[in-house]
Amino acid sequence: MASSFGAAQVLVASNRGPVSYEVREDGSLHAKRGGGGLVSGLSSIGPDAGALWVCSALGDGDREAVRRGVGEDGVRMLDVPADVHADAYNGIANSVLWFVHHMLYQTPVEPVFDAEFRRQWASYEAYNRAFAEALAEEAAEGAVAIVQDYHLTLVPGMLRELRPDLRIGHFSHTPWAPVDYFRLLPDDIAEQVLRGMLGADRLGFLTRRWADAFTACCEALVGGLGGTETGVHGLGADADFLRKRSHEADVDERMAALREEIGEGRRTIVRVDRTELSKNIVRGLLAYRELLATRPEWRERVVHVAFAYPSRQDLAVYRDYTAEVQRVADAVNEEFGTAGWTPVVLHVKDDFARSLAAYRLADVALVNPVRDGMNLVAKEVPVVSEEGCVLVLSREAGAYEELGEDAVVVNPYDVSGTAEALHTALSVPPAERAERSKRLAAAGTALPPARWFLEQLRALQG
Ligand code: G6P
Repeated sequence: MASSFGAAQVLVASNRGPVSYEVREDGSLHAKRGGGGLVSGLSSIGPDAGALWVCSALGDGDREAVRRGVGEDGVRMLDVPADVHADAYNGIANSVLWFVHHMLYQTPVEPVFDAEFRRQWASYEAYNRAFAEALAEEAAEGAVAIVQDYHLTLVPGMLRELRPDLRIGHFSHTPWAPVDYFRLLPDDIAEQVLRGMLGADRLGFLTRRWADAFTACCEALVGGLGGTETGVHGLGADADFLRKRSHEADVDERMAALREEIGEGRRTIVRVDRTELSKNIVRGLLAYRELLATRPEWRERVVHVAFAYPSRQDLAVYRDYTAEVQRVADAVNEEFGTAGWTPVVLHVKDDFARSLAAYRLADVALVNPVRDGMNLVAKEVPVVSEEGCVLVLSREAGAYEELGEDAVVVNPYDVSGTAEALHTALSVPPAERAERSKRLAAAGTALPPARWFLEQLRALQG
């Protein structure tokens, strides 16, 4: 058997990897490295230490890279057939599991688990199997493999069968659904998901609340956790990276341009999100509208800087949501705008440097998701904001567990309550605001990505 083992001592598996490729007009491939907690976490170990990241080819560029044998050290991209990936990613992961954990269904008519769902589920199984097989092939004897997120819930169980010698972890970056909601899934599928995850030695969650919800599902549906441990690792923002990156020249440039758009002497309410249903962008805009309607003293004196970047545009419901965000922003500008004042500055083209510029200018950060695993924006803005910011934070974000005490907390469905919270936040005196922001920044950076990852690795290595 020994000859069939691979060389990697530490493996990470995720749908989206650290690099993506684009085919340029001249036919050359251009590699783009992504950011995010997992990227900096794994790079703290690196390929030299035998770390390998198994991820999926996601677009034509990635597939072309796999075909040409182009790649990076420490990354293995799996070229699963495009239709299988589409069913697994769009059909099951993003339209079913994401919806269940974020409780996004319009339940009078959704979900519908029919033959089409069963067909897509078979692709989800095949997709998970491709990952399990690649990990089994690459892992050294006794290696540690940490599988990421709802795209790959079946991998731990499949990998356990192929390679009982491995230490297997799984980390959920999403919330976990409460039992009654999780049971929307057909019984056999719910059970398969739980048993798949319980194939791991250890399951990581972002907050105690999500870990407890998972445990409750296991107790109700499969008789408990068996021998699997759970652990909570509240991923934090990377203070060093953010402080440095936010003072580079491109961010200064974006800041100057944003200042022009905002206008002299005005307060800013900043939000930066993927255009994601669970982020609750529309109710945020409606709350801002209500603030302007009920507190006319803020007119001309505040601007809502809202960045809503494209996400999951293969799904019609996301395309509709994007259009709705644009429509409501336009309506607020139409209703209240004046010759010299645009109440909402909405940008929809992804631009990280501009996001950091907005963070620097933020007086108030609006983070009002209906449900969110953590929400790193809540942790990042206080680190970067120049004058300190007041955080308006949904109690349904994982970040609430760590930041709730120093934030202005909202029920994300309560638009009037959110409008009032925006008023409260804008009215906090500068000294108090700076103090609160400092405490938020400290709490939000307590577990930076590299340590977050190492903590899990150590726990698995025992
Ligand atoms: C969430 C998920 C991640 C995912 C990210 C972006 O944070 O937990 O796994 O990568 O959203 O979504 P996308 O579908 O573009 O990968």
